[in-house]
Amino acid sequence: MIFGRVKPLDAILATAERKSLHRTLGWFQLTLFGIGCVIGTGIFVLTAAGAQKAGPGLMLAFAIAGAICIVAALCYAEIAAMIPVAGSAYTYTYSTMGELLAWTVGWALILEYAVAASAVAVGWSGYFSGTILNQFLGIHLPAWLSAAPLALGGAPGGFINLPAVVIAGLITWLLMIGTTESARVNAVLVAIKVIALTAFVALTLPSDSFSSGNFNPFLPAGVFGGFGTGVGAVGAAATIFFAYVGFDAVSTAAEETKNPQRNVPIGLIGSLLFCTIFYILVAAGAIGTIGGQPIMGPNGIPFPTGSEELARQCALPRYADMLVCSNEALAHVLRAIGWSKVGNMLGIAAFLALPSVILILMFGQTRIFFVMSRDGLLPEKLSAVHPKWKTPYVVTAMTGIGVAFAAAFLPVGQLADIANAGTLYAFMMVAFAVMILRRTARDHKRDFRTPALWLVGPLTIVGCVFLFFNLPSAAMLVLPIWGGVGLIIYFAYSRHHSHVGRGIVDADDNATTLH
Ligand code: ALA
Repeated sequence: MIFGRVKPLDAILATAERKSLHRTLGWFQLTLFGIGCVIGTGIFVLTAAGAQKAGPGLMLAFAIAGAICIVAALCYAEIAAMIPVAGSAYTYTYSTMGELLAWTVGWALILEYAVAASAVAVGWSGYFSGTILNQFLGIHLPAWLSAAPLALGGAPGGFINLPAVVIAGLITWLLMIGTTESARVNAVLVAIKVIALTAFVALTLPSDSFSSGNFNPFLPAGVFGGFGTGVGAVGAAATIFFAYVGFDAVSTAAEETKNPQRNVPIGLIGSLLFCTIFYILVAAGAIGTIGGQPIMGPNGIPFPTGSEELARQCALPRYADMLVCSNEALAHVLRAIGWSKVGNMLGIAAFLALPSVILILMFGQTRIFFVMSRDGLLPEKLSAVHPKWKTPYVVTAMTGIGVAFAAAFLPVGQLADIANAGTLYAFMMVAFAVMILRRTARDHKRDFRTPALWLVGPLTIVGCVFLFFNLPSAAMLVLPIWGGVGLIIYFAYSRHHSHVGRGIVDADDNATTLH
């Protein structure tokens, strides 16, 4: 039963052929789109959390997470070029391992897209409060309006992260009225982010403040910090993996890509390689200049990020200026080494560019819901298209409420860890799907073949499982609990309504009416 109800590959491809969206994207736009999705809160904000977990070993963490993402991207590239349809990991699983597992992947993708959108909203809030309100307008938003409650890992006096709620609401509204980011706007925002990070690297690496002594000790919490603790270089890799999340959105755009067989692999791998190199340089610049040692607990283990203890330590004046305590890590580094104006400009860059990451993630989420309801696994009412806006406004509004709620009450590190748990599961399933298709659809045309798949596929699976088991225990627990809720819904509703289960293989015509 587990592997039952496989959606026939030919039916998926025929549906895609008939209902395909306009193919307008080339490899360059796709790479830009990838970079647009990827660079965000991970590098601009979580650099602080990563340093608290690993100290200077954060650089190693970026390399580990990047390497795992590259092998995962090689798997994605083959399957996304072969099955260029919306729905990504969910659709691939449906056509190889059947409906039940596809459902679990679709369900896990909610963590990847919606929870990640919440994390980016909270990251944006840090730059909005720190740079725009504080530095430019001289307004100091009280903690109760700008941070999650202390008990949930926010700040002393925190209650609700209002800026994060407002930005999530604003983006939801834009998506509901049919705003999708144009390739031109995306290109401008990517340029802003890349210029900001280039300026950061150019000012920090050659700076007089740069000292090799800051890298010593390199691994203050070791390589493995211990199961469930989420610290050490691999613990940091599990968190900082978030900085790479989103490259798979390139595959969700495959249906809109010209010559996807060639362009999708270039877009996926190109954007990822570019970001990996950048991230390692940024981490080196941040730690080399102001240092990035963690604040240690009494037992010699770094205080957990998002913990009440760490928030209390960071509230003490002697720790307040440390990298690991900053809500706007990169701007803070530049201000600390005497480049206040550039630091503020970098803050503005984050303020301008992070909302587009939220938009792309939330858009991805609505597309996944849309495809799942097109398959009958979610109520069709959810994919109702607004008569005037021509958008799936019901799922968009629901997604927005969920994203805003999580952003209101949870800190960025926790949200990123939860998003990572779901994403790692989806990536692992994609690796399985590629290997299965090599056997079941042996003769199917493949314009991109994952090199050494029998090595790269298992490496992806092992890498994802490895990172998952290095997350903090709370984030690890969320996946099975969330999965359990998903299974209840599947057996109570989806299984009886599934189109494949009812013998309806074709998709719903609404697909073409969306923006
Ligand atoms: N990778 C994206 C970010 O770091 C989700 O914001």
